[in-house]
Amino acid sequence: FVLSESGSSKGAALVAAVAQRLTSLRRQPRISEQLQLVKARMRSGLDAGLRSKSSSTIKMLPSFVYLTPDGTERGKYLALDLGGTNFRALLVRFKKQTSRLYHKIYTIPLEIMQGTGEELFDHLAQCVCDFLDYMGLKNTRLPAGFTFSFPCEQSAIDTGTLVAWTKGFKATDSEGHDVVSMLREAIKRRNDIDLDIVALINDTVGTMMSCAHEDQRCEIGMIAGTGTNLCYMEELKNIEKIEQRMCINTEWGGLGDDGCLDDIITLYDTEVDQNSINQGKQRFEKMTSGMYLGEVVRQVLLDLTRRGLLFKGHVSETLKTPGIFETKYLSQIESDRLALLQVRSILQQLGLHGTCHDSIIVKHVCLVVSRRAAQLCGAGMAAVVDKIRENRGLDHLDIAVGVDGSLYKLHPHFSQVLKETVRVMAPQCDVTFQPSEEGSGKGAALIAAVARRKRDV
Ligand code: GLC
Repeated sequence: FVLSESGSSKGAALVAAVAQRLTSLRRQPRISEQLQLVKARMRSGLDAGLRSKSSSTIKMLPSFVYLTPDGTERGKYLALDLGGTNFRALLVRFKKQTSRLYHKIYTIPLEIMQGTGEELFDHLAQCVCDFLDYMGLKNTRLPAGFTFSFPCEQSAIDTGTLVAWTKGFKATDSEGHDVVSMLREAIKRRNDIDLDIVALINDTVGTMMSCAHEDQRCEIGMIAGTGTNLCYMEELKNIEKIEQRMCINTEWGGLGDDGCLDDIITLYDTEVDQNSINQGKQRFEKMTSGMYLGEVVRQVLLDLTRRGLLFKGHVSETLKTPGIFETKYLSQIESDRLALLQVRSILQQLGLHGTCHDSIIVKHVCLVVSRRAAQLCGAGMAAVVDKIRENRGLDHLDIAVGVDGSLYKLHPHFSQVLKETVRVMAPQCDVTFQPSEEGSGKGAALIAAVARRKRDV
């Protein structure tokens, strides 16, 4: 990777020093042995999680979704989607082969994300009430799918205990509780609306379902956004169930929580983990998802600045501020269409004043950090598709992945690097990535439709 060919000799020396500092993050150019190790560890994690949940950092949670949609789904459904910083309420109408969607987005204030569980669910119920009012549906009892994008131990399609909060959430008295009951109780407390919550769904599962509606080959769902996670259809051959396959929510973001990635975790990652609200948890997620990539970049910039390699060695208050680099800035800075002066002006808007050389270095750091994220996800994906292929005793697997999330959809290079890594690391699989439209919303409505169909027969 060439940072600058025309830089001054001082610039070149700086660049060399920066590049040296970054070697721990960047194992290029070939698909390194380290990525092969990540693939192998992901594979052992998946297998261990299926055997016994307690001993694996990859939770492999059953979703109780057996069927993919068959196109016969009809009617009106509500989808309630809590995943990142927003809550979305949607009304999905299935008519013949088409679907129509109406939605409203509600922000979740930080004090609610980190307040009590009751306050959080009361807030959600308030949003649902507002949405029904807005749609003129306050007096109807609609079937609803609840997309709740956190690890839940499900014992049925419509029950699930929150195992642990991830991504910035920390509401008290929620872990260990059934989140569907919590929502039902919050609705009951209001006493002005009614809902029939028929399914609890992880966003990965919703994404898979919504893509499967268009393409029957879609048996994997992936999110590369604020958090990272994947689900896939697993065989139930050896378990006493009538259906053949069940979708498993892997919660792969937990890979490494037992130390198995310590040899690739850098000091920057450790720093990000230490500053997070769930220390020691979701180590893979913290190297690969939107909520953390900006923080990894900031840690690298801090280090380079302290060593006098950046911003003339001046560690500004801005640079010391957690969260200044949101993923959207990473995406902008890395855009190929942006001239260096524009990168510099983005940095200035963020309060980071530097030279053009500084901008080159910052851009390079962003590239290295996001590339590593995409490659790690690619290694994980390679482990999953090879597992599915082996499960089915095939020499060659043709499979589609429904995928959603800001990193995948908005970052200029992430999706390309991800695909290329999977292609090289899983040569016996043909993996097609299908960006999902309204994945978790439409998918939740589809699952609600399938769940209701099953309940009604
Ligand atoms: C976090 C959650 C997981 C979710 C993912 C993407 O990893 O634990 O349930 O699917 O983020 O939103």
